[in-house]
Order: sequence, then structure tokens, then C-alpha cells
Amino acid sequence: MEIINNPTQVEIKKAAQALKEGHLVAFPTETVYGLGADATNEKAVNRVYSVKGRPTDHPLIVHISSINQLDKWAVDIPEYAIKLAEEFWPGPMTLILKRSEIAKDFITGSQENIGLRVPSHLVALELLSEFEKLGGFGIAAPSANRFGAVSPTTADAVFEELATYLTSGDLILDGGNSEIGIESTIIDCTSSKLSILRPGAVTYEMLANIVNEIIDRSLNINKIRAPGLLKKHYSPKAKVALSDTAEPGEGFIAMANIKTPVGSIRLATPSTLEEFAHVFYSGLRLGDQKGLSSIKVLCPIGEGLAIAIRDRVSKATLGK
Ligand code: TXA
Ligand code: MG
Repeated sequence: MEIINNPTQVEIKKAAQALKEGHLVAFPTETVYGLGADATNEKAVNRVYSVKGRPTDHPLIVHISSINQLDKWAVDIPEYAIKLAEEFWPGPMTLILKRSEIAKDFITGSQENIGLRVPSHLVALELLSEFEKLGGFGIAAPSANRFGAVSPTTADAVFEELATYLTSGDLILDGGNSEIGIESTIIDCTSSKLSILRPGAVTYEMLANIVNEIIDRSLNINKIRAPGLLKKHYSPKAKVALSDTAEPGEGFIAMANIKTPVGSIRLATPSTLEEFAHVFYSGLRLGDQKGLSSIKVLCPIGEGLAIAIRDRVSKATLGK
């Protein structure tokens, strides 16, 4: 396995070639880093599951270079889904649609639908278009962490999570810190009304500007299997709890205007919601690096991105 810092166009081409040959390539996206594989190569996709330690019935998101690739992977696409794709792609939004013939059971966890996303990070977009030039259809990429752990927002975090499991020919592309810092909004577009399955940086309010009726199921258990929707997920080694204070020796994450409780270890001081999302996972990782056994988090209030942040914080509190 090799890490490539700030990959050049030539290096990105090589990474696309590596994918085509069946290797795994971890790459930056604006949400979190993904662990990529050729989405039509069963062997490569199976390796993604084993490297992550993820149960094989949990589907993977397929990343594509643009809305033009949508009908390779999906059929019976509702009009509102096209509208959303036009509005929010490239960007932090995954659409669940009825799958086409090329979306095999090994990608969808044997479900009849497929998750699709066009990421906006330039390295990801270039990797996708180079891969498509080589005849590829799309890159399957879950977050590049071990199952149940915190998603990585840096190449170092990917290395920390997966280096032991990656092998010769696999690559990690280092494209800097993921700007958003939490995973994409997942939207179920398989019925006449859209449902939010996982909140993210494309917020309820942003969606409501485009479509009339939204069912927000993101905080409820639903029939679609998705580990991001299971309660126990996104957890560090330290025990995470909600609190407006922390004991000496405990980690503390809160907005910058909240004072650090005496003796506690401040892991992040975001001053906006965007910054909170951007630093939350790296703050949890920092707590683990410092060997802390407990991290207290004071969630931001309000709507919009705060909903996605509270979702991830509450999942982190439930442990592995
Ligand atoms: O921001 C993101 O979405 C990142 C970056 C790398 O794109 N990816 C990501 O993938 O978070 P993952 O696999 O860690 O989480 C994706 C979630 C999982 O909960 C998965 O089960 C769900 O999306 N999912 C994928 N395909 C699905 C499908 N066909 N139906 C329902 N849920 C699906
Ligand atoms: Mg994940």
C-alpha cells in the first residue's frame, strides 16, 4: 500500500488504473474519505467488505462523475430525484434509486435499490472521470474506516484505520482535510415521496426548497438496511456522552463560546455549525490518540446542519 500526497493528474490516472486492475484506492471526498473499488468487480468489492470488517448485506454507495452517469446505474428515476441531482450534485447527497442491471447483489446487499453520489472534491471527481475513461462505470466507496468506527476526514486517519488490511497495489490518495467532515445526506427516492434516511450537509430546509413533501425518517428505524442508520456506529474507543460539562481528565467538545471545564481536555472549539461538523470526527480521534477514556460533547442547538451533527454525536454516544 502506498500513500500519495496531493496527487497530480498523472498519479490520479495511475490510481484509476489500479482500480481497474482490482486494487482498492482510498480517496478524499468533501464529506469523509472513501475506500474505493471498481463497483462492477465482485472480487474487489468483496475486499472492501473484508478490509472494513463490514457485514456483506450492508450496501455500498456507488460514486459517479456526473448526473450523466445516473441512468447507467438506476432505472425509473422519479422527476424529483433528477431535480435534486441537478441542484445538489456534485455534493454531499446520496440518492437511493431503483437499480439497473449493472448494479449487482454484491453492491446492493441484494436489495433492489442502489445508492448513488457525485462527490465534489476535485481529486474524487478527477479519479472518477479517469476511471470512466478506462471503461469503468463507477467507484463503490463506503467511508474508509473499520465497521462501527469513526469515519476518516484525513488520509492519516485512513492509514490509522486500514493500513493493516490494505495490500500491495492498494493506494491512499491524500487530498487534505475533508471540508464538510460528516457523511452525505442519504435520500430514499424509491417512492413517490422522498425520505431522508441519514441527515447531512444537504439539509431538510435545502430539500424543502426543491420538493413539496418530505418524510424525515432519518431519526427512526426503517426497513432499509444501512449501518449508518444502525444505532451503534461512528464511535471512537473513548466513551462519548452528552454533557455541558466535563470532569478533570475527560475530553470536551463544544462550540467556541462555551468555556472549557477546569481540568478537562478541549478537543475542538468550532465557532460555527460548519466548523463543528468539520472538526467533530477529528476531535474524537484526537481523544483516542490522547488515550482518553471519556469524551463529553455539548451538541449545538437549532436546525439545518445542527440536525446532522446531533445525529452523529448521538450515534457516537452509543459505543461500538
Ligand atoms: O459521504 C458519504 O456518503 C461517504 C463518502 C465516502 O461518499 N460514504 C459513506 O458510505 O458514508 P458508508 O457506506 O460508510 O455509508 C453509506 C450508508 C450506509 O449506511 C449504507 O448502508 C447506506 O448508505 N446505503 C448504501 N446503499 C444503500 C441502498 N441501496 N439502500 C439503502 N442504504 C444504502
Ligand atoms: Mg460509514
